[in-house]
Amino acid sequence: MRQIEQVAEKDFLPIVGPHKGAILAEEVRKAKPRHVLEVGTLVGYSAILMGKELDESAEIVTIEIHRGEAEAAGENILKANIPAKVKIITGDATEVIPTLKGPFDFAFIDAEKTEYLQYLELAEDKLRKGAVVVADNAGIFADQMSDYLDYVRHSEKYQSRYVQVGDDGLEISVKL
Ligand SMILES: C[S@@+](CC[C@H](N)C(=O)[O-])C[C@H]1O[C@@H](n2cnc3c(N)ncnc32)[C@H](O)[C@@H]1O
Repeated sequence: MRQIEQVAEKDFLPIVGPHKGAILAEEVRKAKPRHVLEVGTLVGYSAILMGKELDESAEIVTIEIHRGEAEAAGENILKANIPAKVKIITGDATEVIPTLKGPFDFAFIDAEKTEYLQYLELAEDKLRKGAVVVADNAGIFADQMSDYLDYVRHSEKYQSRYVQVGDDGLEISVKL
């Protein structure tokens, strides 16, 4: 993870990073999910971060639209040697999510900000009651994901809170 952090800083890769990452890891530790859905793999930093907190009975399914990134993620995840299994699916999450079986008890959404609500709606009936959904960039990109934030905060389907970290934050929503 340190290596990815160094490359990310140099090449401006939008990884969740260590500060918001610490909050994400804490949520994973608390929820102890067996089946995790991640939307937006990039080079695997957040998948490693979550998988490090889980045991070998857990599986993370992570979706990445770009083949090059998905391949780099595969290499990084192998190198990290984490206990959890990670399945990387290359494709557009809006097409891949409907093909997934589920159920999932944790989700991390971190891809195209204007599509967050679409990802959630497509995944919704595959999320168990009590599933925790963490959405990145709910501070700096709040305007682009306002429909998502409005939905998790006001639909009465979720109990949702915003956790500020520096100048950005995570929206953490529990499915009711
Ligand atoms: C912010 S990065 C993810 C960072 C990663 N979660 C981390 O913290 O290490 C967003 C990623 O989502 C991918 N992406 C964007 N739109 C997507 C879509 N519709 N389906 C799948 N992946 C998508 C991008 O290619 C990019 O790699």
